[in-house]
Amino acid sequence: MCGIVAYFGKKAAQPILLEGLKRLEYRGYDSAGVALMAGNTFEQHKTSGRIANLEEVLPAVNAAQTIGIGHTRWATHGEPNTTNSHPHTDATGKITLVHNGIIENYATLKKWLLKEGCTFQSETDTEVLANLIGYFYTQEQDKDGTACEHFERAVQKALNEIYGTYGLAIMCADCPDMMIGVKKGSPLILGVGENEFVLASDASAIVEHTTRAVYMSDGEMVIIHADGFTTKTITNKEVSKELKDIEFSLDQIELEGFEHYMQKEIAEQPEALHTCLNGRIDLKNGRVILGGIQNLLRDLTRTKRIIMTACGTAWHAALVGEFLFEQLARIPAEVEYASEFRYRNPIVEEGTVVIAISQSGETADTLAAIEQAKERGATVLGVVNAVGSTIARLTDAGVYLRVGPEIGVASTKAFTAQVSVLAMLAVELGRRRHLSADAAQTILTELAKIPQKVESILAQQEHIKAIAQANIHKDNWLFLGRGFNYPVALEGALKLKEISYIHAEGLPAAEMKHGPIALITDDMPAVFVATQCSQYEKVIGNIEEVRARGGKTIVVATEGDDHIAPYADYLITVPDTIEQLQPLLTVVPLQMLAYHAAVLRGHDVDKPRNLAKSVTVE
Ligand code: M6R
Repeated sequence: MCGIVAYFGKKAAQPILLEGLKRLEYRGYDSAGVALMAGNTFEQHKTSGRIANLEEVLPAVNAAQTIGIGHTRWATHGEPNTTNSHPHTDATGKITLVHNGIIENYATLKKWLLKEGCTFQSETDTEVLANLIGYFYTQEQDKDGTACEHFERAVQKALNEIYGTYGLAIMCADCPDMMIGVKKGSPLILGVGENEFVLASDASAIVEHTTRAVYMSDGEMVIIHADGFTTKTITNKEVSKELKDIEFSLDQIELEGFEHYMQKEIAEQPEALHTCLNGRIDLKNGRVILGGIQNLLRDLTRTKRIIMTACGTAWHAALVGEFLFEQLARIPAEVEYASEFRYRNPIVEEGTVVIAISQSGETADTLAAIEQAKERGATVLGVVNAVGSTIARLTDAGVYLRVGPEIGVASTKAFTAQVSVLAMLAVELGRRRHLSADAAQTILTELAKIPQKVESILAQQEHIKAIAQANIHKDNWLFLGRGFNYPVALEGALKLKEISYIHAEGLPAAEMKHGPIALITDDMPAVFVATQCSQYEKVIGNIEEVRARGGKTIVVATEGDDHIAPYADYLITVPDTIEQLQPLLTVVPLQMLAYHAAVLRGHDVDKPRNLAKSVTVE
């Protein structure tokens, strides 16, 4: 939630901050602002709403202002108005900062600061932090040292009083040639260019300027000066950080002719999945090579239990993973919402392997669940897309999705890649236990064909758009599937509701008769995933139950299924594949249906209301 970007260099900072904020806008878009260093003071511009609103209120570029910070907000404390927008400045006007995260003990600190005479303008937790740093900075000024040393110590002292999460960029009016960045629980990357630095919540705001970066870890701060940067902990211990390459290019984060990132990312799936699978499948031997977890394969093979933990779409992928691990590797597996797992005092027996699944690698609940699992002695693997992200670094080992940046708030290509990675892992574990080479070869041969099959589903664009158009006025939808397609039903419902604001519910198809069937009318489309699988006849039975009650059905079926037409008011077909891999195909038309429904309803598909791409708060 929230995106921060800061520039320190020789170029005019304002356009760089603005461009960076546009790249980070998917992280939150309630309000935005910038602060530029202007001599020994700050020039600040803030506004509610999108970055486009901020652009309108920004003055002409001042080339002499080469240092500044910017923020795009996803509101937590205080409504998204101009006053609550970042940057926030302390009451003395000396300290200004942008913040991504939450200060949990802000109320106590605010009470204390008020007693000390501080004044506040906003309702935010962030302004409390600005004032706390300002308070310590004033105290430090009575001590030996330079203003920069006072500033640095004040930041450290303040952060040692804070509970919560933060990615921060902080400036001090008395130190016009210095900036501090700090991270705990929220992402922060320092891009290191020629005589310039870009500090940002993610690499998309950096990659235009440099591809060399330092990935900050929790509890670390970076102090940037004109002649370079130093890194230390907030408890003042020096740390040396490695410069790494940012592994994606500018093209990958451009729209490239598409109207929306979601549309682009749906269309990219054949290529993305190809890249995800490439070099990992050994068809000849029916084996899988996943470099990142080779050292832990023995532990994994022997484990008595796999727990997968994730949120949202990644949780749906995990559910497919549960079925895959049980069926192919015969390892007991379960799926936990990260937000529940972390607070439930879970039982993690010796030898349990926890797999954390996350596109962004920054989801706060998933991070906390990993910490919980590690404390209890579990081996933790990550299935992550964002290279160098906090989850990727916190886990004992992991597998990257390799699908490039996903920017649309609605996750699409990450889901299919997560399922692909879990399928590969399940096959390899199966092979190390009981799965025959023949069986593994069959699954892997089918997996290798998936990218091409997805391509053929994408060709049905106009047909799926027409189905969305015909049902666009319906305000409640049901999504139903069984077995491997039950998680797809959940995912189809989530996709529709999060971007089109149509109420949708996903269910295992047989559960319908235990309650939700009462909802069926001809005004409630029921989307059935009814591909050729072991439960096909059962799903047909469920469709009959809906139709008998006047319900209208949108059916996703297997190409060439001659039997299905009478059961579908609207029919979408997907190529045939083995049951275990069907989610990789059946989810695609549901992504497309949701996309078209949202566009037809006139919504901003990539920036759905109230949402943000990466949920870095609890
Ligand atoms: O980055 P993550 O995969 O950890 O994100 C998890 C969820 O927040 C995410 O999948 C969310 O549900 C998406 N908006 C779904 O499209």
